[in-house]
Amino acid sequence: MSDDGSTNDNKKTLRSQAWFGRQDKMGFYYRSFLKNSGQPQDRFDGRPVIGICNTWSELTPCNIHFRDLAEHVRRGVLDAGGYPLEFPVSSLGEVTMRPTAMLFRNLASMDVEEAIRAHPLDGVVLLMGCDKTTPALLMGAASANLPAIGVSGGPQLRGNYRGQIIGSGTNIISMSEQLRAGEITMAEFHEAEAGMNRSSGSCMTMGTASTMASMVEALGIGLPENAAIPAVDARRNLLARMAGRRIVDMVQEDLKPSDILTREAFENAIRTLAAIGGSTNAVVHLLAIAGRVGIDLTLADFDRLGRDIHCLVDLMPSGRFLMEDFYYAGGLPAVLRALGERGLLNKDAVTANGRTMWENVATAPNWNAEVITPFEAPFKPEAGIAILTGNLAPDGAVIKPSAASPELMVHTGRAVVFESVEEMHHGVNDEALDIDASCIMVLKNCGPKGYPGMAEVGNMPLPAKLLREGVRDMIRISDARMSGTAYGTVVLHVAPEATAGGPLALVKNGDLITLDVPARSLHLHVSEEEMAARRAAWVAPEPHATRGYQRLYIDHVLQADRGADFDFLVGRSGSPVPRDNH
Ligand code: FES
Ligand code: MG
Repeated sequence: MSDDGSTNDNKKTLRSQAWFGRQDKMGFYYRSFLKNSGQPQDRFDGRPVIGICNTWSELTPCNIHFRDLAEHVRRGVLDAGGYPLEFPVSSLGEVTMRPTAMLFRNLASMDVEEAIRAHPLDGVVLLMGCDKTTPALLMGAASANLPAIGVSGGPQLRGNYRGQIIGSGTNIISMSEQLRAGEITMAEFHEAEAGMNRSSGSCMTMGTASTMASMVEALGIGLPENAAIPAVDARRNLLARMAGRRIVDMVQEDLKPSDILTREAFENAIRTLAAIGGSTNAVVHLLAIAGRVGIDLTLADFDRLGRDIHCLVDLMPSGRFLMEDFYYAGGLPAVLRALGERGLLNKDAVTANGRTMWENVATAPNWNAEVITPFEAPFKPEAGIAILTGNLAPDGAVIKPSAASPELMVHTGRAVVFESVEEMHHGVNDEALDIDASCIMVLKNCGPKGYPGMAEVGNMPLPAKLLREGVRDMIRISDARMSGTAYGTVVLHVAPEATAGGPLALVKNGDLITLDVPARSLHLHVSEEEMAARRAAWVAPEPHATRGYQRLYIDHVLQADRGADFDFLVGRSGSPVPRDNH
């Protein structure tokens, strides 16, 4: 019995007791206000206090079901004898936020980190969905380093339109090109919109959201099956409930993000990224998360670890199926098992459920070898994200070979340069644009500082006149990102970016560029003397903001090869109990 008469059979004094365990003026204050929701005295007896970090928002339609999901987490916490407290953090809706949700990822990560540290919490459940809330919450939780478990919102059901399966993003891109080419009507276009998004959840292609949900599972910071259970499948609620139960034990075990997010875990994530043909955006996010826990992850790690990995899952945007099919086929555990059987998994990596990665997946079944192909007959061989370097990208650039055209993987072409995204949009609809299918489209000033926020504009639309000729892919190079649901021979994340004075800024119309993916090279055929002369004449573009958060962002954002985190956010501060507030 504790001195206030309640039962406390907990094994150790938890952080929250620095608030709720006080038997003085401040203890009265902390407990009393929380009692306005009808909490009994025994809530404050030293049991684990669990924050449910919720990114629900009507402006983030992919997370629209998170109030319900939080309720299942809450029941799990109560099942296990914890005290759940749900709290909101910044929500980042990929679709509607402009200029790009990525601009706000670091802001949200600060919100999460500071909220965890400031409150009487012993552990947190992170409710994550859509593209950016997953990295934001993992980054914040890693810096706060209190026991944390991730629960993803799950993908939508398959899109359905006129008897056809349609995939998020991927079919938006193909249908908008069909519309521009005059192949479908506007009415058909509108009808497809409703058919694509017919349930709550994240994009159901292997876009960025599903990729990041897979990273949660591969890193071991979420429970097995986290990646693929559809948002509206009851088993998603069960997973949330089990996470609520499990976090209570994680607090007692003091199993922190730094115990789970090890180098071995990141290596597992990178290999998984290749095996699922995941989004290039994961490169930026994993680098940023690793930076928070002090793991020295580099672009070279992605190339080295992903190089020999085959893409096993036949999912859009590269393939045929969708996340719902992936779940029914066995989901990510089946992929992790396939990697493990090839010696491509750090089997001893600790995961959130207290078991090792291999203990979780060693017997995982594969119910459908069309969706999850065997390693011997993979959907796409050697499909890891390739890291390119060369005089056009001294600090690296990325390309996703599984989404590219094989005939363009080694190609020299004439540059057609756009200084801004607006210029590019005008140019691709300009019938007089001097361009043919062998040219290389170059887009500048769309990187972290330049846009700002490194928008998903790297998969430039092809020129209308070439689309009409039947051209469906061309090499495109930029300092931007691209949607994980997009495809094409697209070189992204060129670092340093143009706005920061990278060589990309110096490319001119008519320059020859060679892309050589097998050699991992991106070369601009311009002499060093000429480059020096162009550099001397180069004037940095005016920044898009001179005050406020965007100013902070432009001043402090790191380049893509460092994860585009803020320089002052790299690392972690843990969660010591802050000073008294009164
Ligand atoms: Fe939210 Fe794709 S827009 S997951
Ligand atoms: Mg996106």
